Order: sequence, then C-alpha cells, then structure tokens
Amino acid sequence: MPISASICPLLHSYTYIVIEQSFHERKMKVLSTEISFLCMLLTATAQPIMYWELRGLLLADEQRTNLGGSLNFEIGERAANDILMSAKQKEINEAFAELTTFLPARNFMNLVENITESEVFKIIEKMPKGGVLHCHDTGMTSEDYILKNITYRDNLYVCEINGSLSFRFFDSPNDHCNWELLSALREKMIHAENIDRRIHQQISMKVDNPEDVYANSSVAWLKFQSIFATNNPLLTYRPIFFDYVYQGLQELYDDNVFYVELRTTLPHLYELNGTEYGPLETIRAYKEIADRFIADHPDFIGLKVIYAPPRFVNLTRFDEYGRILKEAIRNYPGFVIGFDLVGEEDAGHPLSYFADKLRTFHSDIKFFFHAGETNWYGTSTDNNLLDAVLLNTKRIGHGFALTKHPRVLDIVKKRKIAIEVNPISNQVLRLVTDLRNHPASALFAENVPVVVSNDDPGTWSARALSYDFYEAFMGIMSANADLRSLKQLALNSIVFSGMDYTERARALTLWKKKWANFIGDLVAGNTVICA
Ligand SMILES: *[C@@H]1O[C@H](CO)[C@@H](O)[C@H](O)[C@H]1NC(C)=O
Ligand SMILES: *[C@@H]1O[C@H](CO)[C@@H](O)[C@H](O)[C@H]1NC(C)=O
Ligand SMILES: *[C@@H]1O[C@H](CO)[C@@H](O)[C@H](O)[C@H]1NC(C)=O
Ligand SMILES: *[C@@H]1O[C@H](CO)[C@@H](O)[C@H](O)[C@H]1NC(C)=O
Ligand SMILES: *[C@@H]1O[C@H](CO)[C@@H](O)[C@H](O)[C@H]1NC(C)=O
Ligand SMILES: *[C@@H]1O[C@H](CO)[C@@H](O)[C@H](O)[C@H]1NC(C)=O
Ligand SMILES: [Zn+2]
Repeated sequence: MPISASICPLLHSYTYIVIEQSFHERKMKVLSTEISFLCMLLTATAQPIMYWELRGLLLADEQRTNLGGSLNFEIGERAANDILMSAKQKEINEAFAELTTFLPARNFMNLVENITESEVFKIIEKMPKGGVLHCHDTGMTSEDYILKNITYRDNLYVCEINGSLSFRFFDSPNDHCNWELLSALREKMIHAENIDRRIHQQISMKVDNPEDVYANSSVAWLKFQSIFATNNPLLTYRPIFFDYVYQGLQELYDDNVFYVELRTTLPHLYELNGTEYGPLETIRAYKEIADRFIADHPDFIGLKVIYAPPRFVNLTRFDEYGRILKEAIRNYPGFVIGFDLVGEEDAGHPLSYFADKLRTFHSDIKFFFHAGETNWYGTSTDNNLLDAVLLNTKRIGHGFALTKHPRVLDIVKKRKIAIEVNPISNQVLRLVTDLRNHPASALFAENVPVVVSNDDPGTWSARALSYDFYEAFMGIMSANADLRSLKQLALNSIVFSGMDYTERARALTLWKKKWANFIGDLVAGNTVICA
C-alpha cells in the first residue's frame, strides 16, 4: 500500500516522495526520483530504507526546519549549548516525571520568583537578546518602580472616586476631586503600607488566583485597561515621563537588550501648573530620552517609536491620527518609524473599518499592525490578519490566530513578515492558560519569521524581556530547541527591526561581539550560579 509523505530531508520545498511500505517486511522504499542529494542517493542505491533510518531522517528534518535549526554551531557554541541544554532537559525531565511543577504550564504571575531561580532563566538573562520590537511605552517599566519610586515623589496628589484611587501631580490641586497630598496621607496613616497595597492592586494584574479573577479575556482586558487609566496621569507629568521611560530602557539594558521599538499613543504630557502639551512634544521627549540614554550607554543601539493610538475611534478622529503621524515622521524621520492601532481587538474597530483610509497612507509609512490577538475564529477581529497582510504590514503584533489561516501564513512566509510573539501577555490576557498550548509552537517548528517580545511587562509583575524568552524557550518551543533557536530569535530582532541598512549592520556587528562574550563566559562558567 503506497503512502505519500513530504519527508525528504534536504528538501525545503513542497516536494513529495512516495513511499512504498511493505507491512510484512516492515520496510519502506523510496520510489520517486527527486532532485535533492539525499533522495538521489536513496534512489540510486535502490536500497529499501529501514524503518528506523527513515524515522531518524524525519526527526533530523524536523530539527533542521525548526527555528535556528539551519544555523551551524560556531566556535564555543557546542560547549555552551551543552550547558544550556542540560539545564533545560533537567527542568523538563523533572517536571515530566512529576517531581516538580512545569512552570510554563501555570500562570506566570504566581511563579515569577520560581522562574527567576531557574538555571535556564539565568542563562537567558545573560544572553544578548538583541531588540525588543513589541512593547508599549506606558507598560514598559516594572510596577516596582512606579510604586516605590514614582508614588513617593513630591507634589503627587491622590483622591478616591467611586472606590478607586486617582493620581495627579499639581502645584495647587484643582477642585474636580477631593485631592490630598499622598505623602501627607502616608504620614497620617497608622498603616501606610495599606495604601501601598491598594495602589499596587490598582497598577498590577497580579492576584493570587488569576484564573478565577480573570474568567475570560474580556474580564482581563477590563482590568488591564483600568491599569493604564490609573497610570496615565502618574506617568505623563513631564519630568516623571522622562524618568519612567529612562528607567524602562535601563531595565531592558540591564537585561541585555540593546535596542527598543516602542509603540506609543503619544499621551499628552503636563506640567505642575497644568500646562499640557501636544503629541509632538511627547516625541521630542522620547528623542531627548533616547539621546541621553545612548550618551550614558554607548553600546545601546537606540530607540525608535511607532505611533499606535487606540482603535476605538470613528473615521473623523482617525483622520487626525493620519495628520499627527505625517507631522511626526516629517519632524523625526528615522525615529518615528510607522503606525499601528492598539486596544482590545475584539472590542475595537477591525482594520477593515479603516482600510480605505490606511490604503491612502504614503507608501514610505510602515505598518506594524496588531492582528489576530483573539480566540474568536472567523470573526471580524480574526480577519484583521487578512487586512494586515493586504495592507502590506511589515510585522504582525501577536498573530495569535495565524495558524488558523494557512493562506495568510503562506504570505507571511513568502514576504517575511515577522510575527511578534508575546507569551506572557497572551497568558495573562487569557488567550491561553498552559503555554504548551500556545499556537506559536507551529511557527517555531517551521522557522516562520518570529520575534519574542514583552508587550507590557510592567503590568503583570514581569521585568524586561528574559521572562518572555524563558516561557517561549521552555514552554512553546520543542524540548529539543537549543541555543541556536535563542540565537535566531536575537538575530531576527535585528533583521526584522525598523532600523535602516546601516543601523542594522552596526547592530549586527555589536551584537556578534556581545554574543561571543556571552558564549565565552558561559563556557568559562562565569554565567551559571550553580546551586
Ligand atoms: C515556587 O517557589 C516557592 C518558594 O520557593 C515554593 O514554595 C513553591 O512550591 C514553588 N512553586 C512551584 C510551582 O514550583
Ligand atoms: C461614579 O459612579 C456613578 C455611578 O456609577 C457615576 O454616575 C459617576 O459618573 C461616577 N463618578 C465618576 C467621577 O466617575
Ligand atoms: C466573561 O466572564 C464574565 C464574568 O464571569 C461574564 O459575565 C461574561 O459573560 C464572560 N464573557 C464571555 C465572552 O465569556
Ligand atoms: C527614583 O528614581 C530616580 C531615577 O529614575 C533616582 O534618581 C531616585 O533616587 C529614585 N528615588 C527613590 C526614592 O528611589
Ligand atoms: C508652567 O510650567 C512650565 C514648566 O515649568 C513653564 O514653562 C510655563 O511657563 C508655566 N506656565 C504658566 C502659565 O505658568
Ligand atoms: C468622532 O469622535 C469624536 C470624538 O473622538 C467626536 O467628537 C465626533 O463627534 C465624532 N464624529 C462623528 C461623525 O461621529
Ligand atoms: Zn501590544
């Protein structure tokens, strides 16, 4: 009985070879003549292939087509890989044998400390990870910094409206609310830590039982959006905005990330006296922060900005976005690199609503659309994936639903549209519970262009990028995915970035140096802190 399979190991095209399987002999024979070297060899010798040989070939082929599978080990990398993989296998094997909990299977927010202790995590932390390509400005910095630093600044007032706390910096407070100086309130309270606990509850998704509290994606999004509502006036006081973004870059830099593309709604910054600025002033602030950060850290490649306002608007307001974008790009070419729309996809307008307008944008303007961040197969939200590729998006944010759209996936592969995978975000916002079920497994398996990013680490008790790398490497990729998969992720973050040719070349050179140091340190035993 002949069966067909696309198993020919060295062929990366869609070539089929026919296998004749003799059930009596338990042998398989390749019949067709194919162009690839191996197939020629097999047909030339006309030897029947034994079952186990064939199995070995299939397995090898799968590993070759995996993310990073086509990279060769370079000097020192084999030894480094052995160290990494023995830590990875130990952690997986222990969980497989039910001796420990498999961390990616459970909600990140309950296990941050456990992941921090993982040896694999410690290696990933040290690894030069390249750039962060999907991160939102007002979710980028750890919640610790907001709570322990920003809320302790002078001139911060607080008031309670309908059971929740509002914040704003003033020189003299307005009368819209019963404002009280937060520092005075802390002094007055016998248990000042109570107010801090309340603030933390308001600026973080973290709860003890996230699966119960966030019964579904919509519930999680309500809480998520309320965090931004609380944070916005805390972060947009001009000097604070400066410190907050600088601190976010610092956390990423300390985590061995050297390049960042931030999505921003361009929130209006304000002064103590109530003066409020327009969106261009926010970009000017970004440019100043970037310049200062690079001056302080010469091996940091840079920051770029993607204008990404909310998708819940009508077409009149949308025209305004277009004007702001044009103005921003004209004033800051090469710094403001493109456009996206943000907000819960299921609740906002789909891309098709704006498509006729988006088509008229100048062809130099790059799109970086969020698309397919949904579990609702076949709905208008799900179809954002179609519009994103038709509108010639450069990358896709999340693309969680992409594997349900084989035609779109074909286009993504052909045009090398990178998918920005954000594992922890998808788990916290309840698209997936156990990260082993994350659909990006299929993308990693086929070496579809992907980058791993962090979305809004400061809203779910994460920090910087390593936690998302850990979840992707341990929970979503194959247990066999190795150092080369991580290396490919870092390389992808440079290749698929919005940097121009010269910037990319410089980034690559610098990254290679950092990578060589990382490999050297890992092999020399300077990285892993063994228990
Ligand atoms: C996480 O770490 C804590 C503290 O060490 C420990 O008590 C807990 O059992 C760990 N949880 C898991 C799921 O490994
Ligand atoms: C407080 O809640 C009430 C009832 O839901 C609502 O009418 C009112 O507008 C809210 N006040 C503010 C300041 O949000
Ligand atoms: C989500 O959960 C909330 C609260 O349990 C419920 O009211 C709502 O109907 C649920 N929505 C969906 C789409 O399941
Ligand atoms: C807050 O952070 C700034 C840097 O952003 C630092 O200079 C300052 O010392 C910090 N303050 C506190 C109270 O930690
Ligand atoms: C408000 O404060 C800013 C910054 O300190 C200052 O530049 C501006 O002149 C002030 N505006 C008024 C109306 O006082
Ligand atoms: C569009 O939305 C804006 C608010 O963003 C509102 O002021 C305006 O009236 C709306 N226009 C139409 C035509 O609905
Ligand atoms: Zn996002």
